[in-house]
Amino acid sequence: MKEHSFHIITFGCQMNVHDSQWLARALEARGFCEAAPEEAQVIVVNTCSVREKPELKVMSTLGRIRQITGNSPRVLVGVTGCVAQQLGENLFRHRQVRLVAGSDGIASAPAAIERLLEDPALRLSLLDFTSHYEEREAGAPLPRAAAGHVNIMQGCDNFCAYCIVPFTRGRQKSRLTPAILADCRALLASGASEVTLLGQNVNAFGRDKSGDGTSFRQLLDAVNALPGLARLRYVTPHPKDMGPEDVAAFGELEHLCPRLHLPLQAGSDAVLKRMGRKYDAARFLALVEQLRAACPDIALSTDLIVGFPGESEDDFLQTLDMMRACNFMSSFSFCYSDRPGTSASRFLDKIPPDVQQDRLLRLQALQDTLSQTWLAQRVGQETDVLLEERSRRDTPGDDESWQGRDPYGALVHVPMPAGEHTGRMVRTRIRHAHRHSLVGEAPLPERGDD
Ligand code: SAH
Ligand code: SF4
Ligand code: F3S
Repeated sequence: MKEHSFHIITFGCQMNVHDSQWLARALEARGFCEAAPEEAQVIVVNTCSVREKPELKVMSTLGRIRQITGNSPRVLVGVTGCVAQQLGENLFRHRQVRLVAGSDGIASAPAAIERLLEDPALRLSLLDFTSHYEEREAGAPLPRAAAGHVNIMQGCDNFCAYCIVPFTRGRQKSRLTPAILADCRALLASGASEVTLLGQNVNAFGRDKSGDGTSFRQLLDAVNALPGLARLRYVTPHPKDMGPEDVAAFGELEHLCPRLHLPLQAGSDAVLKRMGRKYDAARFLALVEQLRAACPDIALSTDLIVGFPGESEDDFLQTLDMMRACNFMSSFSFCYSDRPGTSASRFLDKIPPDVQQDRLLRLQALQDTLSQTWLAQRVGQETDVLLEERSRRDTPGDDESWQGRDPYGALVHVPMPAGEHTGRMVRTRIRHAHRHSLVGEAPLPERGDD
């Protein structure tokens, strides 16, 4: 085991991935180094509770850690994130777990870890929600990457009937604009040229007591104007909070990418009403039409839930109709699962798992067709690809294959001469569509190259 070494295991959404990255950099700034789980002195499990048996996943992860570390009292295990917020000090039943930190508590985890290493008899729980967005300590410098995420808010006030997020992440708290812009500038200074703004309900940014009066559109304008920025994206919007100014941004802001992940959840008005989503299918379709008017080539993706309590076969077919009408390029789809404390968990007319599963497969088959049609119509087009890393699957016959994203967020593999290309923007013509990605030709010469 290496003294002052750590290993982080991450489940869940982009917010969790982002929290784990911050924790790693904060620990590095305090003199810790990253290590394999077999060698680490500190192991942190950053957890998610949004769907299906998350507690079981955490328990089996803790079991695997015990197998690796053999219950050594010298190894410190921490559980952070949404399951930690939910289960709290119950997690101390596992002898090795000495730190439990919830969604806001994770901000104090680096200092807590140092205290726990000094005092082996101690256990600490950090479970309180803060009333305002609390800035976190600066970590070690960012590693060079083509693109990065910046958090703009924490929590959610919407209480969709199925969702645990408002319970695990707390009420919505917007971050102050200067701090967001400072993070964006640091990301750009580290070599990135693409910024994704992150939050559970980004269009509602600023509309809470923690905000500084800046609206989401004003924030987009400010980030769009930062020197060095080539691409701006955000996740996740809520259809009910997407105002005309947010729609217009897709036609007005030079760097805002023509891609939006817009969660629909269900296509039937009856189901949407019981979900508490506060829009109906007609409002969603009107929004899609307005987005296409502002930005004709915008690519849309979505989240869908099948088998919500009371969903009839006819309700489900309306979800399929909406998918076709919106022509989603991709979607994340899930079987509804009960989450403790949510209002839907108390609904009586649950859908049997086999019916849910059958609907999920039919939905995913339709999405495959829509996705493949979308990818196929890209063949022959020229596009800009921001290269991220070497492709995991090298294209046969090429020196090297690199992968990156086009403005629509599609994954594109590009043959490149041997060398380091992370962060380079290249222009290529798409020559082939795979099931989930595109393949481009060797890049066209850059302007002013010769
Ligand atoms: N505000 C975030 C929500 C995060 S949860 C966002 O809009 O992205 C991500 C997705 O998980 C949701 O959009 C929903 O489709 C799915 N989800 C949430 N709770 C669920 C549940 N109880 N059962 C099944 N899917 C769920
Ligand atoms: Fe999971 Fe939601 Fe928590 Fe993200 S915010 S980790 S999706 S429960
Ligand atoms: Fe969840 Fe709905 Fe908020 S899906 S995160 S309660 S917008």
